Parts: sequence; C-alpha cells; structure tokens
Amino acid sequence: MKKSTVVIGAQWGDEGKGKIVDLLARQADAVARFQGGANAGHTVKANGREFVLHLLPSGIVHPKKPCFIGNGVVLDPPSLMEEIAQVRSQGIKVDGRLKISPLANLTMPYHKMLDKAREAQGAGAIGTTGRGIGPSYIDKVGRLGIRVGDLLQFDVFAQKLRENLKEKNFLLKNYYKVSPASYEAIIKEYRKYPALLKPYMADVSLLLNQLMASGKKVLFEGAQGTFLDIDFGTYPFVTSSSTISGGACTGLGIGPGSVGSVLLVAKAYTTRVGNGPFPAEFDPKMADFIRRRAGDEFGRTTGRPRRCGWFDAVMVKRAVQVNGADQLAVTKLDVLDGMKQIKIAVSYGIKGGGYPWTTEELSCCRVKYITLPGWDKPTGGIRSYGQLPANAKKYLQTIEKLTGVKISIVSVGPDREATIFRA
Ligand code: GDP
Ligand code: IMO
Ligand code: MG
Repeated sequence: MKKSTVVIGAQWGDEGKGKIVDLLARQADAVARFQGGANAGHTVKANGREFVLHLLPSGIVHPKKPCFIGNGVVLDPPSLMEEIAQVRSQGIKVDGRLKISPLANLTMPYHKMLDKAREAQGAGAIGTTGRGIGPSYIDKVGRLGIRVGDLLQFDVFAQKLRENLKEKNFLLKNYYKVSPASYEAIIKEYRKYPALLKPYMADVSLLLNQLMASGKKVLFEGAQGTFLDIDFGTYPFVTSSSTISGGACTGLGIGPGSVGSVLLVAKAYTTRVGNGPFPAEFDPKMADFIRRRAGDEFGRTTGRPRRCGWFDAVMVKRAVQVNGADQLAVTKLDVLDGMKQIKIAVSYGIKGGGYPWTTEELSCCRVKYITLPGWDKPTGGIRSYGQLPANAKKYLQTIEKLTGVKISIVSVGPDREATIFRA
C-alpha cells in the first residue's frame, strides 16, 4: 500500500472487505470506518482465530494500530460495548488506540424498534438487518439526531431524548401498533455511556489530517457495498448511507485529495442478503450448491442465507465508475474450483446501452452472459498468480477487460495467507 487507500465493496456487501482491510492494515498507519453502523459484519481470520466486526474497524485486530470511527457512522453504544468486550476476550487491547468522533449520530433503542416495526409490515420490506440504521440516518438528515458528543452534557441528551420520544412513541403506538419506548429505561441505561465513551472521543478529522500531513498512510474501511449505496444502489433496496468512496470524505472530514487509491473488492461471483433486484441471480438449486460449497454464505450480522449469482461485470464496471476505482481485489476464487463452466453477466440488454435509470428497469432487464471454461486444480493453496490454472487466469483477465480495472489482489481462502498479491 503506497498511498492512503479506501476499500469499497463492489457488489451488495460481504465481498470480503474485512479480510482485505486486515491484510492491508499491516502496511497502513491507521484504519478508519466512515459510514454504516452495526449492520456491517466483517470477518477477519488471523492466527487461527476468527473475529466478526460490526462497528470496530477491522484494523483493531492488529495490536497498536490506531483505529477511528468517523462522524459518518451511526453508533449504537450497547453494540459497541459488546463488541469491545468480545475482542478484549479474544486478547485484543482497544483502549488508547480507538478514537470516535463526537459528531457521529447515535443509534437509539427506538431506531431499532422503528426499523423492526416497519419491516414487520411486510409490503415493501427491504430485508434490513434490523439494527436501526435507516431510522438513525433519517433523524440525522432530519436534524433530530442525538450525537455521541451530546452524551457529555447529559441534560442536553435527556432533553433531546424527550423531544424525540414524543414523535417516535406516537408512531410506534398509533401507526405501528407496537409498544412504545420508555424514557426512564433509556435514561437509566444511557447514564453509563458518558463515562464509557468519553475516553474514546476525539476530533477524528483533525487527527486523521495531522497523520496524513506527517506522511502517514490511512486505510479507509467501507462497509456494505456500492449497490447498497443510498444514491447509486438498487434504491429503495439499499442501506441509508453513502457506501461509495466519496463517503470517506464526508464521513471522516478529509479532503478528496487525501484518498490516494480506491480499491474495490468483488467476489468472484455475486451475493446479496435482503430483498431487491439481482439480475444475475442463480436458480435456487445452483444458489444452494454455491452456498454450501462456500460454506459461509450466511449473513454475519443476521445469519440469513445469502442469495447467490454469477459475477456481474455490468455492475462492477458501474462500481469502478462511481467510486473512481484504480484497483480491484477478487475474493473467493477458490469457491469456483471444479466448476465445468463459469458465466459472467456482460449486458443487461438495455436499448442504447448504458446503466438502467430505475430499479424497475433493472428488475426486468434481460441479462446476457458469456461462458468461460472452468478449472479442476484447487486454487486454495496457490500463492502466486503465475501458478493459477490457465482458465482461472483467463477468467480474471476477462474480468479486468470487462470492468476496465487491474486486479491487484486475488483471494483464494478466508485466511490471511490465502492471498495472491500482484505487483
Ligand atoms: P465483508 O462484510 O465484506 O467483510 O465480508 P464478510 O466477512 O461478511 O463475508 C465474507 C466471507 O468470506 C467471510 O466468511 C470470510 O471469511 C470469507 N472469505 C473472504 N475471502 C475469502 C476467500 O478468498 N475464499 C473463501 N473461501 N472465503 C473467503
Ligand atoms: P457488510 O459491511 C450485506 C443490507 C441488508 C438489507 C439492506 C438494508 O458486512 O458488507 P440496513 O440494515 O442497512 O438498513 O439493511 O442492506 N445490508 C448488508 N448486506 N452486507 C452488509 O454489510 C450489509 N449491511 C446492510 O441485508 O438488504
Ligand atoms: Mg459482511
């Protein structure tokens, strides 16, 4: 890693960002999360141990590496504390190297209640993670949000909570017909958070800018993926934050020039958790086959089975464009070992070409595929690009050609070692 780099999912999340961030963190001076919240589930397998991270940057696994949570994240204090306790129990020291922006909005208990109540209505359900993400960002943009820094003046926090509950409890009781949130119960629980969170609070924008001004390199860790982005994703079946590379600037308080490189992470096939269009989706039999073969195509946050499909070059090319990507990491190549034929989606059959303007258009597009020959030799033990089977190289070269970006990393297993770096 020669420059500060942002790592972004090219598809619908779960591309293996956690593994890639963990790998690059060795060469970085700090790791920063800039959007999303406890909806993320990033897996890091290191030294025989597995870490599943939701709010903490994946760099936390590296002892002494400074880690930052920016203003663009929505922070759920109980989830964060649970996660800190979890990684501590796995031997990780967090104190002194985790910094959280006081400008980040809080995910409150009523956000989770509203998220679940909305989803329970059935019609129009997004298939969210139920972590209160949408309602947290609605309040942020609606200027009703309560921020991490508000906890330091508890009377301000209590006043904002009281104001919020008037509206939220009206909705919960009268519209969703569920139990309201209790002011007293929230106050009782949240009294402990000022003392617990204050040691982590810092001016994240200032610290990151100072680090970079002194020549240090920062790894910016994206959560979710490009097609869950609030603007460029398969709206409304998206998450509520800017998951694309531009989100790193607004979510941390850094200038665009700070981002030296944009690394997109794409699986060698495609998965999606939750509802919404999926042009290159497999039929149920094939999805089940891949899910079992990969062994782990179940959401790391909710345990739901992931929907699976072929690699979609139309969407990854679009992701290269909206993120300004200059490199691609392809993960889970090993999952395709032994397949006779492998397909790649190359066109949506849209008149005049171009990318669909509406989700309805995307939902009924006619996907065209090319078919490439598979390879027999297992790739899991391969550590150099040259040793990959000829057809695996052909597959990767085809992806490069179709997406217009160079593959710099190929991942052939969940562990750190199962990686091929290309110069
Ligand atoms: P993230 O959300 O993008 O960090 O991805 P997840 O951690 O949710 O999902 C990726 C899953 O694939 C995790 O279980 C990883 O351990 C696993 N994984 C990552 N890279 C590879 C790979 O190259 N091969 C295989 N077989 N598994 C991988
Ligand atoms: P990582 O960082 C995969 C999906 C949900 C749902 C939609 C909206 O591990 O890649 P939300 O709870 O955010 O309001 O749900 O977004 N989703 C993810 N899918 N990986 C994730 O994170 C996701 N975070 C949210 O399944 O479809
Ligand atoms: Mg994940």
